Amino acid sequence: MHIGTDAHNDANMDMNMDRDIDMDIEMDMNRDRDRMRLVRVEEVRDESPTVRTLIFRDEHAYRARAGQFLMVWIPRVDEIPMSIMLDPYDREGYAALTVRRHGYSSTTLYNMHEGSTIGVRGPYGRAFTVSNGNVVLVGGGTGLVPLLRLCKMLYNSTGAKVTFIMGSRSRDEVIFEGLARGLVGSDGNVIVCTDDGSYGLKGYASDILKALLEDYRSREERVDMIYTCGPEAMMFKVLKMADEYGIEAQASLERIMKCGIGLCSSCCMGRYILCKDGPVMSARDILACDEFGVYVRDKSGRLLRV
Ligand SMILES: Cc1cc2nc3c(=O)[nH]c(=O)nc-3n(C[C@H](O)[C@H](O)[C@H](O)COP(=O)(O)OP(=O)(O)OC[C@H]3O[C@@H](n4cnc5c(N)ncnc54)[C@H](O)[C@@H]3O)c2cc1C
Ligand code: FES
Repeated sequence: MHIGTDAHNDANMDMNMDRDIDMDIEMDMNRDRDRMRLVRVEEVRDESPTVRTLIFRDEHAYRARAGQFLMVWIPRVDEIPMSIMLDPYDREGYAALTVRRHGYSSTTLYNMHEGSTIGVRGPYGRAFTVSNGNVVLVGGGTGLVPLLRLCKMLYNSTGAKVTFIMGSRSRDEVIFEGLARGLVGSDGNVIVCTDDGSYGLKGYASDILKALLEDYRSREERVDMIYTCGPEAMMFKVLKMADEYGIEAQASLERIMKCGIGLCSSCCMGRYILCKDGPVMSARDILACDEFGVYVRDKSGRLLRV
């Protein structure tokens, strides 16, 4: 009896110790994730006249889930949120950033070269949840970045049949077509469209989606999930359309982010703190929020019309 109780207590102590060790490991990993890590840019690739990809080694970024982001420190300039791009060579431990030159910070990042040092912390935020069956990805510009990572996850984990609609303004701005074709697998389909019709189909990504959904409907086939990331006006149309057709959808949203960890409130959208509750959210939650597609906040927190 006495021995039995001791054995029971020992087993309990072992379980508690295991749990403590697991918690310590998790805390260490989180601490490491939140620590600014200096990484060296190993290669810079031109994707279009305004977009470049910077490749670097970082174990946390490599392991990120699709839709999560990094806070990227650009020495002497700023810290900005960026989606985590796949390493184009698919190497273990590597990740990348794809940046469009825009204002001062993104242009400084764009102008970095092989051997430049940047700081990264994260990955942060909620990722896409993977679906099986027939899925449609709708992306535009650098919004394609999280969708490419998602495409890889879908192919590896669910075997979903992917149709990837990739929109850009014109031929010059078409990026990642070859990579996407490789990621969707032999079952999948990539549809490239441009606003001016200079490459692929002519039209907005949302128009192409509409035609695709009509085609599915005429064949009495269902679409199980729509994922989108890109300009807010495009995502607004895509989510409304998903709602109209009764299809579940998820979108990765953008708002000004300063801390990336839920402290500063600069990324508020209605009652949501996008760096924690997003950037990926369900269509249901997004459409219930009056601000989406209508207002964004500037760096001082003032509401502006989209
Ligand atoms: C989760 C997330 C992922 C992103 N991923 C990418 C990506 O993969 N590639 C890419 O090129 N861009 C990405 N962005 C946008 C990028 O962070 C901004 O474009 C960048 O911060 C612009 O800085 P700037 O000084 O060049 O531009 P500015 O001239 O200062 O601003 C231009 C516009 O960029 C946006 N912006 C500015 N500062 C921020 C900020 N701190 N946080 C968010 N938006 C800001 C605002 O809409 C602003 O109107 C992402 C943003 C978020 C929130
Ligand atoms: S960026 Fe600070 S709370 Fe989201």
